Amino acid sequence: MSIPTPIEWQEGRLKILDQTLLPHQTRWIELETIEDVFEAIIQLKVRGAPAIGITAAYGLAIAAKKYEGVDIETFHLRIHEDYLYLAGSRPTAVNLFWALDRMMKVIETLYSTEETIISLEQEAKKIHQEDEEICRQIGENALSLLNGRKKVLTICNAGTIATGKYGTALAPFHLGKEKGVDFQVYACETRPVLQGARLTAWELQQSNVDVTVITDNMAAHTIATKGIEAIIVGADRIASNGDTANKIGTWQLAILANYFQIPFYVAAPLSTFDFSIASGADIPIEERLAEEVTHIGPNQITPEGTKVFNPAFDVTTANLITAIITEKGIFEADRNKLAQLNKAEEGV
Ligand code: MRU
Repeated sequence: MSIPTPIEWQEGRLKILDQTLLPHQTRWIELETIEDVFEAIIQLKVRGAPAIGITAAYGLAIAAKKYEGVDIETFHLRIHEDYLYLAGSRPTAVNLFWALDRMMKVIETLYSTEETIISLEQEAKKIHQEDEEICRQIGENALSLLNGRKKVLTICNAGTIATGKYGTALAPFHLGKEKGVDFQVYACETRPVLQGARLTAWELQQSNVDVTVITDNMAAHTIATKGIEAIIVGADRIASNGDTANKIGTWQLAILANYFQIPFYVAAPLSTFDFSIASGADIPIEERLAEEVTHIGPNQITPEGTKVFNPAFDVTTANLITAIITEKGIFEADRNKLAQLNKAEEGV
């Protein structure tokens, strides 16, 4: 079995695997307009920080085509509006803004509308292709860091379907399979949207990786009784000091890792770092609709009128993170160490 590609760009057409239908249906849908892209992102048809960035980049390339034939000044005005529109889809994953900003950089250097439209498409394809290699590298680094630890717990879905390919937190499991290293993965179901139960379980099964699903409140008992040797998670935004926003429920796992004295790893590309903010206190946390909590699928589980708090992410403080695994190597979640990474990236 192999894993289907979550995002496809074929002859100027964008197709995504509709993740809201998984695991029961494997269906690709075409996103024809920038509005389709926006809706797909907010409805979680496409999700996961890198995948959101890639899809938004294609969204801008699609939007640009509307302006064929207009003068370059009007083009700049219109595409800036489109940029703001897509940037308003989801607030927490910084990869969205990183990808859109990278697309807008292309525009700055060109003076013909037609040339800019072509270059935007090329840049979106580049962002997409690069992500696969970045995730493969994260997987290699994670494999060496895990160094024989086979029983690993994760949350949400930071896998192939959340990226260009391989994923971040799930990359060592996919790569391990290719190299004959067999992991036993425990996946937290990840209420309220069930990315762990629906998506991670499905994706790892497609790769023939041994995966066991637990409900979120079983984590401590599972670590204690099943000999979990490490926890690995993805990230939506990492602040300058290493504080990390990821799917709601991640922070409590880091606290548990600390209690049980097992390593807690964050796996993320450089595009997930936000060096413009000092700490996790500056990360905007998305709050989503009450229905995600009051319902499981179409079925309401709470009494009518129940009050709901539904933050989609939490921030794990840097002191609880053993290491951050990137495509450029493994780093301590420490302001000074991460500053070196930032400088190296900026070529300072
Ligand atoms: O709300 P989601 O499903 O987009 O949240 C996704 C996560 O929190 C992932 O762990 C994170 O984006 C990393 S994906 C490689």
